[in-house]
Amino acid sequence: MPFNVKKRGKLTYYYQGERPVLSALVTEELPDGDLRIYFSGLTGGYSAKGILNREELVSMDPKREIPLVFECWELWLKEAGICDSLQDVDFIEVHAFGCQPKSPNPLVDPAGYAAEQERLRAAYAEAYRGFFAERLPDHGLPARFTVHLVDVPDRYRARNGQLTEFAPFCERDFRAPDELEHGDGPAEVWLKRQSMVSRYMLDHHPWDVVGWDGTVYPVAFNIHDFEARAGRFHVPPPIHQTFQAHNLVICSFVPRKLDWDPEAVMLPYHHSNLDSDEVLYYVDGNYAARRGIKQGSFTHHVGGVPHGPQPGALEASLDRPRETDELAVMVDTFRPLHRTSVARQVFDKEYPFSWHTGGVRGTTSIA
Ligand SMILES: [Fe+2]
Repeated sequence: MPFNVKKRGKLTYYYQGERPVLSALVTEELPDGDLRIYFSGLTGGYSAKGILNREELVSMDPKREIPLVFECWELWLKEAGICDSLQDVDFIEVHAFGCQPKSPNPLVDPAGYAAEQERLRAAYAEAYRGFFAERLPDHGLPARFTVHLVDVPDRYRARNGQLTEFAPFCERDFRAPDELEHGDGPAEVWLKRQSMVSRYMLDHHPWDVVGWDGTVYPVAFNIHDFEARAGRFHVPPPIHQTFQAHNLVICSFVPRKLDWDPEAVMLPYHHSNLDSDEVLYYVDGNYAARRGIKQGSFTHHVGGVPHGPQPGALEASLDRPRETDELAVMVDTFRPLHRTSVARQVFDKEYPFSWHTGGVRGTTSIA
């Protein structure tokens, strides 16, 4: 079935039907004359069955399913008149999500579910590996490696670059790698910077390093080394900031004394975090008093949505010891987050209503 085509600036949309939900593919003309191609709306055997008009549905069988997905891409490339084969495409970047087993039920048979999940993940990895090794042997690795540099907040550093005494950790808390990976033989390295990819052939493996030099290298930091800052009155969330990166900050909420002035209200205030989306992971501590939260919970407070202490929190806080044993990590992003299909599977529909349903009166020091 031929595509309808719509052009807008550098973008060309290829779609079917009059009012489609998604384009099958979109191309973008890059300034250097290259063409970037985006495939969309195709996730596996179900989609492939319809696109390739196959009688048989192949599902949860990665060895047969993955080649079908790529076959669909090739068909679209041909129908769009771009090229005849994926072999004509120079660089392929695959964004694959971890698959979830259809059975057994994780609540009934958690061990069986975990085993099936492990089997499927290994099988999908092998299917991708096999496709690129056999069908596209001249291509590089079909993976996207994204490295985000994480640094300490600017305000923790003195002008000479050293951490100040006011920072909640010091240089000695960071651990450099003590064991290095090794690899052998010549290797091709693909270097992607913005939209451009450069290929280098090295005569030795790039992991063949003897140590780290300069100021950019991987480090480990233990959250238990974060020295909390507390105050006579409530201190706002930036006091918990641990790292900053492009468009995000990372904060650590650790056991500490809380708001010990007799007149202090031992609660965070209601707010809307207009500038950021806020994701919290509750690692450890007693959250029995907080509705909708327990150890292991993730919450996502979307930017602009008011939230804060639940009803009854003020009264419940009056008799509480002025301290907390919470351990939680927060990531605030300055661009909106979009939930993946995996995140939607564990979505707790009751959480947004925990502010006006019955139950234990909730308190926590985290907003
Ligand atoms: Fe918040």
